[in-house]
Amino acid sequence: MSDKTRPESETPAPRRLAHIKSFGCQMNAHDAERMADLLAREGYETTDAPDNADLVILNTCHIREKAAEKVYSEIGRLRVRKEERAAEGKETVIAVAGCVAQAEGGEIMRRAPAVDLVVGPQSYHRLPDLLKSARSAKAIDIDFPDEDKFEHLPLPGKKRIMARGPSAFLTVQEGCDKFCSFCVVPFTRGAETSRLVEAVIAEARQMVEAGVREIMLLGQNVNAYHGAGPDGSVWDLARLFAALSEISGLERLRYATSHPRDMNEALIAAHRDLPKLMPYLHLPVQAGSDRVLKAMNRKHKADDYRAIIAKVREARPDIAITSDFIVGFPGETDADFEDTMRLVREIGFAAAYSFKYSPRPGTKAAEAGDMVPEEVKTARLHALQALILEQQTAFNRASLGQIMPVLFEKPGRHAGQIAGKSPYLQAVHADIPRGEEVSSLIGRIADVRITELRSNSLHGEIVSPVGEADRGGMAA
Ligand code: 5AD
Ligand code: SF4
Repeated sequence: MSDKTRPESETPAPRRLAHIKSFGCQMNAHDAERMADLLAREGYETTDAPDNADLVILNTCHIREKAAEKVYSEIGRLRVRKEERAAEGKETVIAVAGCVAQAEGGEIMRRAPAVDLVVGPQSYHRLPDLLKSARSAKAIDIDFPDEDKFEHLPLPGKKRIMARGPSAFLTVQEGCDKFCSFCVVPFTRGAETSRLVEAVIAEARQMVEAGVREIMLLGQNVNAYHGAGPDGSVWDLARLFAALSEISGLERLRYATSHPRDMNEALIAAHRDLPKLMPYLHLPVQAGSDRVLKAMNRKHKADDYRAIIAKVREARPDIAITSDFIVGFPGETDADFEDTMRLVREIGFAAAYSFKYSPRPGTKAAEAGDMVPEEVKTARLHALQALILEQQTAFNRASLGQIMPVLFEKPGRHAGQIAGKSPYLQAVHADIPRGEEVSSLIGRIADVRITELRSNSLHGEIVSPVGEADRGGMAA
């Protein structure tokens, strides 16, 4: 029997504790889950407490300078604990995984002797072997192997899937060939690759059988998906969504993160035609000035973005649009920044992330002169964030009084409450109706009337009786 098909009950009893601390994007969060699945096979139980762990993995992010700096301060803290544990006769393995490991693996080994093991995001399926090697000498693996790592990772069993809730990630695409001039992703995650259609569908089916109701397809450039189909032809993301829509019990589909250039007609049409594809699109634009977009090597103009959004809205008028922005890109003038503000005012976003430009080693923009002074970046960031917050509040306020289907995911913050997500990815809290329990509501979708707008969530009351038809629950 292959490792992958071995039933969960046969996994060895947990003997050691592992703590995985993850930084960065959803892809990294998902990688952390898959590492935990792999380690479970090796007899590790995961713990939230780093102090007691026999193995600590820092799953790092390299996207901005601050994210990368955190790694060294974390290692400093862990080194102290490692020494304390050594005095108690306990061994602690410190591993650095993720994108900083990929970009600076050798340097980490030199600068931080407490680190035993370095593993990149494309080779963590080899963790068990690396852990064995790390016992005798330091181990490093930052290859970009040809094989699909997911084919070498154990699929999580039902229990593990259920523990993570009814909304789950599924990686379908990795890496990027776009080379935006600010971005490290092509260096840390490598060239763009898509997983096979059949592998994706098989994984989705297994997740749904365990009780998953919503799947978020992940990729650094997910709408560039071009996986080989069972018939040998190349499938795009729209075709993959159409096939996933056929899986009964799978109620909601989402995807992140996308590039405007890959927003093809078929994907836009999918937003009109596939009821399971949620009315939500995260489409980073980064800037509203054509001069800056060109310097960023985004390969589209601000008006192209406006045109795409107009088409998407025509296909699905209620869709929530979110985005990413960088302020203070080298050479960005006040007029350029005003173009960004104008674009934001025109589009009207449901939410957005915005960042100060941060030069990243190896990227084209980092070599450019004309850096924008820090205080100018700060002022622009504040102005943009204030505008986005205004739009986000307006978007949420428009939900007041509406009835919307909510997928319940976990107990609410207060007793007697349940928390879930609206189709527009808003957090919604609702009171648990008499006769219902948290455990029976989780994994079910019910209509909720939104009655209150709170700072980070909406509050409402369940109006549809949560009937047998919805009684998906998390399968036992
Ligand atoms: N500086 C600031 N922000 C960046 N991002 C990516 N690279 C940088 C950088 N060098 C932002 C982009 C991207 C998001 C994931 O992070 O907005 O869409
Ligand atoms: Fe950070 Fe990018 Fe790596 Fe995600 S892929 S962890 S955002 S550097």
